[in-house]
Amino acid sequence: MDQRRPLIAGNWKMNGLLADGVALAEGLAELSRQHDGLPPDAAAEVPPDVPLALPCDVLVCPPFTLIDRIVQAVAGTKIAVGGQDCHEKVSGAHTGDVAAEMLKDLGCRYVIVGHSERRADHLETDHAVRVKAEAALRAGLVAIICVGETEAERDAGQTEAVVARQIAGSVPPVATPATVVVAYEPVWAIGTGKTATPEEAQAVHARIRKELDALLGSAAASGMRILYGGSVKPGNAAELLGQPDIDGALVGGASLKVEDFWAIAAAAK
Ligand code: 13P
Repeated sequence: MDQRRPLIAGNWKMNGLLADGVALAEGLAELSRQHDGLPPDAAAEVPPDVPLALPCDVLVCPPFTLIDRIVQAVAGTKIAVGGQDCHEKVSGAHTGDVAAEMLKDLGCRYVIVGHSERRADHLETDHAVRVKAEAALRAGLVAIICVGETEAERDAGQTEAVVARQIAGSVPPVATPATVVVAYEPVWAIGTGKTATPEEAQAVHARIRKELDALLGSAAASGMRILYGGSVKPGNAAELLGQPDIDGALVGGASLKVEDFWAIAAAAK
């Protein structure tokens, strides 16, 4: 349990023109340099033994169009950059899609797959999400695999059954704590201002870990990070992140403000 270092990830979704995205990333980079005690003009390379002063890993996932510039903006800090989706193939005739290898090539370390907005808007199935996660692993990226029930499923008492099915169908059997992160995002809590209570979220996270145990074995399950997402804000982050099976947050709206995102990261234990 102790080895699970919290991960605070910002999912910018389809937000940000070039100037907005660069300003946001530069604001975070500046805070990160201050916390690390690095000079503001630190060189692009961070010595591996310099700890990020925050008690967590920090990740931003901008739109594809901004990734190259955001990687440059956070150079010299330990802030990681990720994509919001990837295609299952390495290359080929897939107009409009982006391969995991392309993200890796730009300096990404993570990619989100199976976000509920992609499951809903692009009809992504559990199987489609799993092959995207496998593509991420092939490319050397960490896959952040999202699961979560809709409001109707919740009202029907199906929350645990839905997330168990999504985990079984979306997580590659070769997943390890180093290659996969799970994100539990109840659909009814995304962008609504409604949040699962810490106790509700903890119960679902524990159920997810049980499912990971059945799928991957106890060592992988106990080491794998499970993030909570859905209206995480500075005001509710500490309580959520204080739960034993909540290992970080996947943050939408609040990740678009430097101070809010940093306050959430600072709340990680
Ligand atoms: P909000 O934090 O805006 O609710 O979004 C959560 C989310 O979907 C992150 O992936």
